[in-house]
Amino acid sequence: MGRIGSQVVNPIGCADCHDNETMNLTITRPALVEAFERMGKDIKKASHQEMRSLVCAQCHVEYYFDKNVAEGANYLKFPWDNGFSAEAMEEYYDNIEFSDWTHAMSKAPMLKAQHPGYETYMTGIHAQRGVSCADCHMPYKSEGGQKYTDHKMQSPLNNIANSCQVCHREEASTLMANVYDRQDKIIENRNKLEEQLVRAHVEAKKAWDLGATESEMKDILMGIRHAQWRWDYAAASHGASFHSPIELGRVISTGITIAQETRIKLARLLASHNFNQEIPYPDITTKEKAQEFIGLDMKTLKAEKQEFLKTVVPEWMKEAEKREKSYDAVAKSKD
Ligand code: HEC
Ligand code: HEC
Ligand code: HEC
Ligand code: HEC
Repeated sequence: MGRIGSQVVNPIGCADCHDNETMNLTITRPALVEAFERMGKDIKKASHQEMRSLVCAQCHVEYYFDKNVAEGANYLKFPWDNGFSAEAMEEYYDNIEFSDWTHAMSKAPMLKAQHPGYETYMTGIHAQRGVSCADCHMPYKSEGGQKYTDHKMQSPLNNIANSCQVCHREEASTLMANVYDRQDKIIENRNKLEEQLVRAHVEAKKAWDLGATESEMKDILMGIRHAQWRWDYAAASHGASFHSPIELGRVISTGITIAQETRIKLARLLASHNFNQEIPYPDITTKEKAQEFIGLDMKTLKAEKQEFLKTVVPEWMKEAEKREKSYDAVAKSKD
């Protein structure tokens, strides 16, 4: 983090999506090209309409850092070798025994989803009908008779006339209700899964406390990992409740099933350790209560953050300013 901290000042630039010579859309992230290559697809041959989504797929995707490519390097990689689905990526991560962190209570080897936005979009009806990310998030705009692409990427609901009504005849209020309706329905079951996960972590901790062994816990911890991955795949894939409500509903259902099966195994294990009571649902009604419950020392963490803002960040800013001045000098010498 220290080495590249000063890059934090750089926003997303034109060159992330455009070739500087021709201004054509282009892919600048090797990770995307390589991920497609491993799936046997050459995206350098992608159609213009596909490119209007692929430029977004450079960032709005699931990824991780491979530490085995070169000594000391974090190599950006998309876990797509077996496909895009929650199951395919989970299998990929299981096979390489990858985990982002170990849960403090259950000790489950957890996965943290980044934002599998492109992957989930691809399973939805709009992708299947060839509607691109840019069609909705970068609609055409007219000014003084000139038609151009709106580069302010935002919720299309701020601009339904250009984003949706170029294809749909329905009233704006109907289209908006369609979006919110899908989001509400997905969240209903996602919250149910979340509750199951909380219970599973708490019950797993109880099992450890009662002396459960690694081998007794192995399948249970994998169950927790897989169920929470499905929750996170749904929660972190920004916009997917609208982009692909059926797929998200499916993924969340499989998460609920796995969490239930895992909790049945936990109940049996707890019983074999002579524990037959229900463990009360923790009071995690506020963020503060949840932080306390999982044992986060917020006072120390907040103090560390203040220290970081006071010491490290100003160093980054100074470095960035120096670098930008040196670019200016190079640019001037070329004039
Ligand atoms: C996140 C990707 C992305 C970024 C960043 C981006 N663009 Fe674009 N740009 C697009 C897409 C998508 C189109 C539509 C291209 C098409 O369909 O041919 C586009 C179209 C254009 C066009 C063609 C004319 C038009 O309006 O359709 C120009 C010129 C352009 N962009 C300039 C820029 C400039 C200048 C920047 C930086 C300030 C920039 N773009 C940043 C994605 C991007
Ligand atoms: C270089 C990486 C990158 C690329 C390429 C990119 N994005 Fe993003 N996008 C981001 C990041 C990072 C954020 C979160 C920004 C924030 O938190 O303020 C974001 C946020 C968004 C948001 C939410 C904006 C809001 O209102 O909060 C939308 C919508 C979005 N991007 C759509 C797109 C679309 C569509 C494309 C392709 C045309 C695209 N992005 C390409 C990195 C990228
Ligand atoms: C480029 C054309 C296009 C644009 C832009 C577009 N749609 Fe669609 N939409 C379609 C097509 C095609 C279908 C599939 C149904 C069909 O084939 O008639 C569809 C289907 C839908 C459905 C039904 C999907 C489902 O869940 O079963 C809804 C709702 C919807 N669109 C809302 C929107 C909203 C809201 C926007 C703007 C944010 C939007 N659409 C933008 C073309 C478009
Ligand atoms: C058919 C139109 C349509 C297409 C195609 C589409 N989106 Fe969306 N997107 C939406 C709508 C509608 C929302 C929900 C906005 C809201 O809740 O205000 C959304 C939400 C998002 C969000 C979350 C924004 C926020 O403010 O939370 C991101 C990020 C995003 N989309 C990125 C993408 C990317 C990347 C693609 C292509 C891989 C894509 N979208 C394709 C219509 C579309």
